[in-house]
Amino acid sequence: MDIKKNRAIGVFDSGIGGLTVVRALMERLPFENIIYFGDTARVPYGIKSVETINRYAMQITEFLLKKDVKLLIVACNTMAAVAYQAIRDLSPVPVLEVIEASAKIAVAETRSKTIGVIGTPATINSNAYSRAIHLLDRDAKVFSQACPLFVPLVEEGWFDHAATRLVALEYLKPVMAEHIDTLVLGCTHYPLLKPLFQDIVGKQVRLIDSAEAMAEIAADLINRENLSNETRLSPDYLFCVSDVPYRFQTIGERFLGRTLPRVEMVRL
Ligand code: DGL
Repeated sequence: MDIKKNRAIGVFDSGIGGLTVVRALMERLPFENIIYFGDTARVPYGIKSVETINRYAMQITEFLLKKDVKLLIVACNTMAAVAYQAIRDLSPVPVLEVIEASAKIAVAETRSKTIGVIGTPATINSNAYSRAIHLLDRDAKVFSQACPLFVPLVEEGWFDHAATRLVALEYLKPVMAEHIDTLVLGCTHYPLLKPLFQDIVGKQVRLIDSAEAMAEIAADLINRENLSNETRLSPDYLFCVSDVPYRFQTIGERFLGRTLPRVEMVRL
């Protein structure tokens, strides 16, 4: 048996939002071991400076590489937008990130080549989504909107709440005015608001969930590089966090869609 193939996939995020990516990975790659790191002590990243986000991203990368992962997945759109190159430079193992994954699906899905992107201020200000989409299709029109209030609303568990609906109506108004037919949910937290968003934008707009896109791309890479775990036992899942905040368990389980098993607090 090839020991390298048994090594875990390392997934990281600024907090618990990346569990939406873990959930998609568990479904798509049910035999892979996963180590997750959520920087719950320092979340949110999306409103922090590029320097700070980069520094935090380097610390998490070093932590997961010490755990001997075979693949790194940057589940956090904000870190992917700002620190992807630095993470790649540091990592001897392949690194995947959510932005390219979502951009590919958005370009494949849009009919009118008119794409909306919502994300944290750091993600939107970086222009990473526009760049990734335009690399794939120069003619696509991209309309972006920073939505800083969605992360705290999701952390609060207000997935279908009047306040969240009001905020969503306000944020989505300018992108909807551009007659987009595809909306990229460019933040780990947003898949939990999918039913609400779909209700607001209507069925004619396709929502692109970066979690599902990421799992698909990870599965492709694992097959292509022959990294598939051949052990057909229940996989090991380890969840590391830098703090255990109030309501962590309940919110975490909503993200993961199942009980949150082994959670360890670590100091970077
Ligand atoms: N994980 C971040 C993202 O996907 C959202 C939360 C944050 O601001 O840290 O952009």
